[in-house]
Amino acid sequence: MPTYVTTPIYYVNAMPHLGHAYTTIVTDTYSRFRRLCGDDVRFQTGTDEHGEKIAEAAAKAGETPRAYVDRISATFRETWPLLSIQPDTIIRTTDADHIKTVQDILQQVYDRGDIYFSEYSGLYCKGCERFLTEKELVEGKCPDHLVEPKAITEQNYFFRMSQYQEWLIDHIKSNPDFITPERYRNEVLSFLSEPLEDLCISRPTSRLTWGIPLPFDDKFVTYVWFDALINYLTGIGYPDGPDFAHYWAVAEHVIAKDILKPHAIYWPTMLRAMELEPYRRLHVHGYWNVDATKMSKSLGNVVRPRELVETYGVDTVRYFVLREMSFGLDSSFSGDAILARHNADLANDLGNLFSRSLTMIDKYAAGQVPERESVSTFTPDDRELMSAVSAMVAQYREHMDGFVFHKALQAIWEVIGLLNRYIVTNAPWELAKHPRQADRLRTVLSFLAEALWKIALVLGPIMPDTAGKMAAALGMGEQFATAVIDDAVEWGEIPAGTVIGTSGQLFPRVEKKAEAAVPVAAAKQAAKKEPEPGLGEGLISFDQFKTVDLRVAEIVAAEKVAKSDRLLKLTVKAPEARTIVAGIAQHYSPEALIGQKVLIVANLKPAKLMGIPSQGMVLAAKEQRPDGTEKLVLTTVAGPVAVGSRVA
Ligand code: MSP
Repeated sequence: MPTYVTTPIYYVNAMPHLGHAYTTIVTDTYSRFRRLCGDDVRFQTGTDEHGEKIAEAAAKAGETPRAYVDRISATFRETWPLLSIQPDTIIRTTDADHIKTVQDILQQVYDRGDIYFSEYSGLYCKGCERFLTEKELVEGKCPDHLVEPKAITEQNYFFRMSQYQEWLIDHIKSNPDFITPERYRNEVLSFLSEPLEDLCISRPTSRLTWGIPLPFDDKFVTYVWFDALINYLTGIGYPDGPDFAHYWAVAEHVIAKDILKPHAIYWPTMLRAMELEPYRRLHVHGYWNVDATKMSKSLGNVVRPRELVETYGVDTVRYFVLREMSFGLDSSFSGDAILARHNADLANDLGNLFSRSLTMIDKYAAGQVPERESVSTFTPDDRELMSAVSAMVAQYREHMDGFVFHKALQAIWEVIGLLNRYIVTNAPWELAKHPRQADRLRTVLSFLAEALWKIALVLGPIMPDTAGKMAAALGMGEQFATAVIDDAVEWGEIPAGTVIGTSGQLFPRVEKKAEAAVPVAAAKQAAKKEPEPGLGEGLISFDQFKTVDLRVAEIVAAEKVAKSDRLLKLTVKAPEARTIVAGIAQHYSPEALIGQKVLIVANLKPAKLMGIPSQGMVLAAKEQRPDGTEKLVLTTVAGPVAVGSRVA
């Protein structure tokens, strides 16, 4: 069976963060799983390199768009191996063959009359690179980028998307797994219950040149989505490459909910206009949040996968994201959560089980998998273990295929728990004391080895390095390279006499202080930015300093934020009233703050913390104590001064 699975192609106006890593780890895991099922797999990722915000980011970095996209797209390519992600194709929208394919498709759709020229007025969000409807706005702003979209009236080319609306509704209704999880399918159907507008697909070159010229009018370039979505075809050789039909028939896309509409509505209708079948499945996941706000560069709260890997190791990062997030729902990242999963689930449950088992085989069976007794002597414990393993393999298959990764992992960890209990109940160290229990001891040890081999097999797609180490230590390294999931079904795959090695510690424990290495602060990133030419590292120019609006503000109200130990909601006058959410609850009581004059950053991009919009930041000095704790002291002014005064 073929499998073709893709990630979104990521914009190169930001460096890869945990959000990008998550989608790509999911897609890598799924493609490894399909390989384990014996499929012929094509896994594609890539970068989206045209459009207004990329051109702006290049200008801001003082580079040509070409040099800029080359540099940032390389950071994505360099990140994937750090996460054991192995795509088969990494596409770039600036690749010559992609540009040609986009132009051929535009011409084809234009020739059949599905693209026309017209004027349009709408609300454009640059972050989303699309027009938003009034209904999508929250308090007048784009809910993802927290900015008001810009009213634009322009002459442009449009794709007759509206004429495919009925067809799309029918297709979604008659293919229940076309868009999953179901909540997103319902969201799309609800959106489609209103009349669909046509899709603007161009930008005048007077406004944007960094794009693909329309083949039928060179005063326009194509709009980012018409360019980007087509990557899914280019990468497998559309229209006449030898693999195209083979893979397109089974195409599956993995995305987060931010780009649901382009994938669930624009893309199938575009494919219809090209007379191609729609993709087979669209898998939609939620957001990784930090403090209840979506992780994104523009909000300055990103977690970098590279630094997580340095602290915890690649397989902990892969395990953590797949175990912690219920695919489809949002999840909150925290240093404490990854630390707890690393130490409890991995170092303790799996790591200790594995090293204990190998040590016992080494000690009580001279380092070889022993011959087990005949089936008739198996105890209820043995039978329970065998049937638990085979139930786990069945559940694992179903959940991995359905993108319910946390449940697949729960099923594996149930067997890990059962094995730990099996060791306690059967106490091999006791059996070893009694020569007449020698047969029983051999069976117990061989059952342990066998169950651990099955666990290594099913963990392969999720934690490839760990699973490889486990297989090698079990003397099954060669078999592991070519194993298929069916090998996890039969009991007795490890031949008696197989020589067991050692694995070392699979997951060395990480102590709490490592949490400090988890990068969530915007300040930390700012410090890492490349210096301007002529400035030493860490220095900023006066012009840069002037961009920060520092002001004196008076705290007029303060209250604790529900469900947070850290946050206080402050109302300050600066001189206008504004709300600021500050992480000072462990250092100041709300009452002690009323009337204090403090310094704030007044032009910090608004963010939501625990659902409360925060418009600025209160400055505080942070002392790091030797015992690892922190002391925070608010900065204030030395004498009477009017609120709203600038600090310069
Ligand atoms: N270039 C478009 C996609 C075109 S696909 C034909 C784009 N790029 S993006 O860089 O903004 O990537 C968005 C995707 O990155 C999301 O759909 C998701 O896969 C991933 N994520 C980015 N931030 C994320 C979170 N905070 N949480 C989870 N995934 C996130 O949109």
